[in-house]
Amino acid sequence: MKEVMYNEYAKEVLEALPKGAFLNVSDGNEDNTMTIGWGSIGTMWNRPVFIIMVRYSRYTYQLIEQANCFTVSIPFTAHLKKELAYCGSKSGRDCDKWQDLGLTKLKANKVNAPLVGECDLHYACKIIGRQEVTSQAIMPDMVTTFYNDDNYHVLYYGEIVGTYLK
Ligand SMILES: Cc1cc2nc3c(=O)[nH]c(=O)nc-3n(C[C@H](O)[C@H](O)[C@H](O)COP(=O)(O)O)c2cc1C
Repeated sequence: MKEVMYNEYAKEVLEALPKGAFLNVSDGNEDNTMTIGWGSIGTMWNRPVFIIMVRYSRYTYQLIEQANCFTVSIPFTAHLKKELAYCGSKSGRDCDKWQDLGLTKLKANKVNAPLVGECDLHYACKIIGRQEVTSQAIMPDMVTTFYNDDNYHVLYYGEIVGTYLK
């Protein structure tokens, strides 16, 4: 893996993300990965930041609340479509997604979280902020469209401490 600037592949990342990326977390005991489609990269508090959104119902939420970091592994082409679908529908409460799919679990540099080795680009992020989405904070139509079951997202602001190209 080669270390690159966090924004060097921004175009590829922003195109790939809505199709799916792997959010990887560890609570120190258990590792998990889940598919994400929403997120944002930019500058906040003078730092490069990757913002992710995790709903309360996710096993990932349970783990990330015990963690101080996460990684995001991004495929640039459609070669992991089946794996993204699996990790976006099965819960790590019931299975080991790396094992079930035969994915390569790598250890990230600088943070205690795994990576999905088959991906093209990886972000290692240290959590520097956390914010709960509430009905007061967003437009009413978004509440009815996205949160009619009260299963809100929590935003995690991850300072990008490493970006790695396969
Ligand atoms: C394309 C796609 C994008 C998704 N994006 C998100 C997301 O940004 N945030 C989220 O909480 N769940 C998202 N999900 C749903 C989770 O991946 C899914 O509920 C997963 O099974 C949760 O796994 P876990 O219980 O092991 O954490 C997405 C699913 C798909 C298929």
